[in-house]
Amino acid sequence: MAIPSVKLLGGYDFPVVGLGTWQSDNEQALEDALNAALELGYRHIDTAYVYRNEHVIGRVLKEWLTSGKIKRDDLFITTKLPMEAINPDRVEQYIKKSLESLQLDYVDLYLIHFPICTKPRKPDSKEPIETEPTDHIAVWKKMEEQVDAGRTKTIGLSNFSIAQIDRVIKNSRIKPACLQVEIHTFFPQNELVKFAQDNGLVVVAYSPLANPSINKFYAKMGLPPKELPNMLTNGIISSIAKKHNKSNAQIMLKFLLQRNIVVIPKSVTATRLKENIDLFDFTLDGDDLTALRGLDQGEPARVCDFSFAKAFVSHPEWPFPARD
Ligand SMILES: NC(=O)c1ccc[n+]([C@@H]2O[C@H](COP(=O)([O-])OP(=O)(O)OC[C@H]3O[C@@H](n4cnc5c(N)ncnc54)[C@H](OP(=O)(O)O)[C@@H]3O)[C@@H](O)[C@H]2O)c1
Repeated sequence: MAIPSVKLLGGYDFPVVGLGTWQSDNEQALEDALNAALELGYRHIDTAYVYRNEHVIGRVLKEWLTSGKIKRDDLFITTKLPMEAINPDRVEQYIKKSLESLQLDYVDLYLIHFPICTKPRKPDSKEPIETEPTDHIAVWKKMEEQVDAGRTKTIGLSNFSIAQIDRVIKNSRIKPACLQVEIHTFFPQNELVKFAQDNGLVVVAYSPLANPSINKFYAKMGLPPKELPNMLTNGIISSIAKKHNKSNAQIMLKFLLQRNIVVIPKSVTATRLKENIDLFDFTLDGDDLTALRGLDQGEPARVCDFSFAKAFVSHPEWPFPARD
């Protein structure tokens, strides 16, 4: 099935459902998921240098492109400048690394992953993470140069605050096309979404299902589990799902689509991949929307809070509200 698109700055088609690939650590499982997703009609794939899976995505895309089953123009590939490269001297080097792994001449969207630069260190290093001073305007100029050089069609921001987005917009030659941030029913980020949409950025929701597997990540980082709302067990979401004969995940995703927000649910499970794009034959009504709006829990429901590194929280460019 063809997934509907919205227009990004520059007129590019951006499919409203993409495939998330964070925590897709098992190469075979990711390869199978990518093949299944492409067969089902997914054309938008979200990755990042830091997910360490660009080479797997590159391998699968190469097969689809060389066999002629798909054309490069039909795909929308997003990747991200990692925190260790939020520095004007490293932007070109890192986008080239991503393009090499992805086996592509260009990506469709290149995002600054997070507004804080870290000191480069070895993968899996147990040393504490250290940060560096971070100059968004200088980095943005290098991002613009990647568009000029044809390495990416569009550029954007991830995890930036309203003040940080505003500063980039006011100092840009090429405007950010997209803002990718955490958004879901329990954490709707209404003010940030309104600001970005009013300024012409397409908003993408990451962790749109409030990532029910997030505690696997915290365990891997040696951190205690977080108590977070769960979309699978929430009674209000379940009753709306029952009314529409849909799953809880589909209600979570549809609520975002009806706010004109693009979603990138991650799954490596074939049945869920199918479910996560089967969203276009029903509409949430006024009562559903009111009930879902009532599930807003604000900051405590943030799944990916990045505060696991103490150096981030004390950095002048920390983008999220201070925690007690
Ligand atoms: N810019 C950033 O800083 C940032 C941060 C976080 C995420 N992201 C991007 O956003 C994507 C999505 O976010 P996320 O991975 O954090 O979380 P998510 O998509 O909200 O949740 C993924 C989890 O939900 C499960 N799942 C998927 N579909 C389901 C369904 N229909 N029913 C029940 N469970 C389902 C998946 O399990 P299975 O895989 O086992 O099926 C996985 O455990 C990421 O993969 C990544 O591409 C970006």
